[in-house]
Amino acid sequence: MNPDKSFLRALGGEAVWPPPLWLMRQAGRYLPEYRATKERAGGFLELCLNPELSAEVTFQPLRRFPLDAAILFTDLPMLPWAMGQPLRYGTGGPEGVGPILDPVRDAAAIAGLRPAGAAARAAPIMETVARIRAGLERDHPGVALIGFAGAPWTVACYMVDGRGGHGFPETRRMAAENPALLDALFAALLEASESYLVAQAEAGAEALMLFDSWAGLLPPEGFARWVLAPTVALTARLRARLGPDFPLIGFPRLAGPDNLLAYAAGAGVNGLGLDETVDPAWAASALPRSVALQGNLDSRALVEGGEALERGADRILTAMRGRPFVFNLGHGITPDTPPDHVAFLAQRVRAG
Ligand code: CP3
Repeated sequence: MNPDKSFLRALGGEAVWPPPLWLMRQAGRYLPEYRATKERAGGFLELCLNPELSAEVTFQPLRRFPLDAAILFTDLPMLPWAMGQPLRYGTGGPEGVGPILDPVRDAAAIAGLRPAGAAARAAPIMETVARIRAGLERDHPGVALIGFAGAPWTVACYMVDGRGGHGFPETRRMAAENPALLDALFAALLEASESYLVAQAEAGAEALMLFDSWAGLLPPEGFARWVLAPTVALTARLRARLGPDFPLIGFPRLAGPDNLLAYAAGAGVNGLGLDETVDPAWAASALPRSVALQGNLDSRALVEGGEALERGADRILTAMRGRPFVFNLGHGITPDTPPDHVAFLAQRVRAG
């Protein structure tokens, strides 16, 4: 590990100040050069499967802003795709935007998945990881590389419902009415996620993040059963393969304070992503210091800029000073974000 990588030091438990900074969706549609590269690739899925161009879009925000981490450019449903589930992207018509998967809703469909082949089918993504890491060492030696996957619950939501935007009623129905079937899907997902994430680490990812974007959909006992328990199982498998100190970040979005406390204590992560609904002062005092916190500026403040942005950033910086912390948003950058506002935020965070 490069001792100068401030992001890795913070995840290792050091109260680095000014805090390291990166932003979810830092590569994406708010950057004209991203839109041009996606066009060149011939579409979003094509971009995700093109190692040269995926690496290129990963580097784009680093050339503009002083960020401390890069995140592998790919998408969460690429793991189901790698397990054999057909995937396409809606273009904004009646199906909306975003990923569309052929739903997996019965035992035959689950048995037809190929978790053992997932890492091999995802070979182009591993090549992307290797290219990004080499480019970082060459041109951005202080920047750490984050690999990622969706956490089992959130990936299952997309696999069972087939698309987002409707609160995933079929997945929640399966959890309530046929938990054994959902368990079978989770067993496949755990196997595939382990090999997919270990392959990313072997290709050069220096930290791994588990996105649980829909962790907030479940009642408390559902959170324990479908969010926390599978995350614990996955982090245990990753630790067995990658060693006890490998930096892992969990992001149980919209989980709420009680669930966050349980997650911070038991999920087996070094870092905890906070969404914008979490009060940073509460988080800094209530969550264990042994876990580095990451977040949680409202993406809307970044769109708005000016005073809203300054106030939001300062509130977080004030609360988190003196504890292991990584500055980020509470969710991804939205396409209507002016790049100038990102530059302003980076200066503000740098000033501590
Ligand atoms: O800079 C980065 O953060 C890099 C890569 C990244 C993407 N998706 C690229 C992307 C990451 C880490 C993700 C994770 C992801 N994907 C999550 C978890 C985090 C979250 O946002 O909650 C989820 C739920 C998905 C699934 C997904 N992918 C949705 C719901 C959508 C449509 C909504 C949207 O923001 O467009 C996508 C598409 C997507 N993933 C885009 C990008 C850059 C936009 C596609 C385009 O350019 O046409």
